[in-house]
Amino acid sequence: MRRLLLLLLLISPAYKNPHLSEDKRIEDLLARMTLHEKVMQLNQFTLGRNDNVNNIGEVVGKLPAEIGSVIYYAADPVLRNAMQRRAMEESRLGIPLIFGYDDIHGFKTLYQISLGQACSWNPSLVEKMCSYSAREARRSGVDWTFSPMIDVARDPRWGRVAEGYGEDPYVNGVFGAASVRGYQGAGLKSLDAVAACLKHYVGYGASEAGRDYVYTEISRPTLWNVYLFPYKMCLDAGAQSLMSSFNDISGIPGSANHYTLTEVLRDTWGFDGPVVSDWDAVKQLINQGYAANLREASSKALMAGVDMDMMSHGYEEYLEDLVESGEIPVSVVDEAVRRVLRIKFRLGLFDNPYIPEETPEKRFFLPEAMETASQLAAESMVLLKNNGVLPIRNASNIAVIGPLAKNSWDLMGNWKGHTEPEEMDVFLDGIRREFPSAEIKYELGCNVNGEGDFSAALALAERSDVVILCLGEKLNWSGENTSRSSIALPGGQEKLLEEIKATGKPVVVTLTNGRPLELNRIDALADAVLETWQPGVNGASALGGILSGRINPSGKLAITFPWSTGQIPIYYNRHKSARRGTQGVYKDITSDPLYPFGHGLSYTTFEYGDPRCIGTPSIDRPFKVEIEVSNTGKADGYETVLWYISDPYCSVLTRPEKELKYFEKKFLKAGEKATFVFEVDPSRDLGYLDGDGRSFLESGEYHVIVGGRDLKIMI
Ligand code: BGC
Repeated sequence: MRRLLLLLLLISPAYKNPHLSEDKRIEDLLARMTLHEKVMQLNQFTLGRNDNVNNIGEVVGKLPAEIGSVIYYAADPVLRNAMQRRAMEESRLGIPLIFGYDDIHGFKTLYQISLGQACSWNPSLVEKMCSYSAREARRSGVDWTFSPMIDVARDPRWGRVAEGYGEDPYVNGVFGAASVRGYQGAGLKSLDAVAACLKHYVGYGASEAGRDYVYTEISRPTLWNVYLFPYKMCLDAGAQSLMSSFNDISGIPGSANHYTLTEVLRDTWGFDGPVVSDWDAVKQLINQGYAANLREASSKALMAGVDMDMMSHGYEEYLEDLVESGEIPVSVVDEAVRRVLRIKFRLGLFDNPYIPEETPEKRFFLPEAMETASQLAAESMVLLKNNGVLPIRNASNIAVIGPLAKNSWDLMGNWKGHTEPEEMDVFLDGIRREFPSAEIKYELGCNVNGEGDFSAALALAERSDVVILCLGEKLNWSGENTSRSSIALPGGQEKLLEEIKATGKPVVVTLTNGRPLELNRIDALADAVLETWQPGVNGASALGGILSGRINPSGKLAITFPWSTGQIPIYYNRHKSARRGTQGVYKDITSDPLYPFGHGLSYTTFEYGDPRCIGTPSIDRPFKVEIEVSNTGKADGYETVLWYISDPYCSVLTRPEKELKYFEKKFLKAGEKATFVFEVDPSRDLGYLDGDGRSFLESGEYHVIVGGRDLKIMI
């Protein structure tokens, strides 16, 4: 038997031999491919169905057997295997398909949205979550997830702030890298891993005034220090692919930008995996005025470095002709094909194209996934305000009111994967379980639009000891194509709060939403405000636990909540102003945000000592700064210490007022003390990048800012 297998291997083509190196197999296969077969590898279609409502366009009825990739909207291994069989058996060379899908905050077991995840400051939990999500996805037919989104986003009017990790480049890098490790960590060939795709490369989050898909004006230093920064961290974590963005980057669209796609990504960073365009992004070069027609758009995108065309159909239609007419060299096509084949070899698709046909029970909602969903929800909710009403103790009549109290649909948030609303645990049920001896009554009050007759809700409030008012956004108010000119909740929701407050009962407001909100009126009325984000299948238990005090909240904001929409953009790491103090501030409202980056309350208190440097700081050697933090309250709890640096003077470029460089979360029992340590690598943590991405570091004065304290150091 072994000899027969050996013989078969010897007579079969080299690219089919799993014992040969990836490069040998790629080159062997490439040499056998016709131009048509090569071009087909550079296309991604979606078959029959399209779950992304924003992607309007023709849906392909029949897949050519030679196609490179498919966006796969099913969760059925049998269907996946049947589609793969066609590619393997009906294409001349038997090249497997790679199946892509947006597994964003959960495939079936739904977790907290990414913006909420960042507020947990617990990247290992996010890594775990992504590993469980990868397992569900791969075993359901998906090899490649279009995640993580690491677009630094500083304008909450942009609906896609929900999909990333907030306003800070470092936080996006840390959480993006954690999710890459989670998705890919089991090993790409494993049935428990999927290849990650970093998106949207690059600068999409800078969309003007939060309008989706529009122009972005990004200077080179900002491009490097803010937008490219997290990509580099995630590539260092091993990410296998990227998606090119829709936005125009200062005159050259992201999907035709040779500088970002080739000079930076390939020439500087040496990345050898594929770049797929965003949906229709190649064709959209025409709308952006950068290509006269689809032929030119396809040529520009490929030449810039987009290897695979998602649904524009331009590569399919024009690349062969463009090569044959000599307008693009075949070597560019070859290089793109190599990258596509490489990810397929790395995923083991040539050797194991099919997946086991397991039942849904074996794949979905496994106990460890559900446990992680609960923990992540608990750690990511942010207590924004508390005048002492929380935790709720000794209440015998609790009123649960509001449009998000018993609303499983909107609770899911955007990119809900394959989760069905009936699989979600609604807040009301979580609260009922949490307070078994209290009488819990529910009234809607108003719908998410703020419409409704409040009378029953007000009567209920009157009869209760405390009101839990669940406000928030609809599922489709955040995510792609959901820009909003105001980030306030509908007036009707605020009015409901106002009238309930007038009953004199204490009111705890919970917020379920995918972006920072304008909360100044809500903050003024509510006794407590708890930001839950869109917390996933088990969010209700986490919410119940925080309300009762079983869980001590530990989330902190990874994005600033402005005082009002008019303050936007307002992010913590703005560059220094020419005039300080009272000059340049708003004359009509405060210039401070309502809840700054890093804000989040606990049921205990933490006291910070003075930060100190261990030894003498130096420009060319790592050194340590440490601070002692004590839990001075009565409850055990987590504390996250955020370490910023500030460079008061830089001779090359101006720098932000302060920049987050490190964070750490620790559990401290009541009365316990812990030392938090920041290991400063001077070039990484104190240095900066110039407009060509070159790191530089000047000697002189720097500040380490931690827990509101400021330590001056000289290097
Ligand atoms: C989105 C991407 C997504 C793709 C495929 C696009 O409209 O911008 O984030 O991965 O669709 O669904």
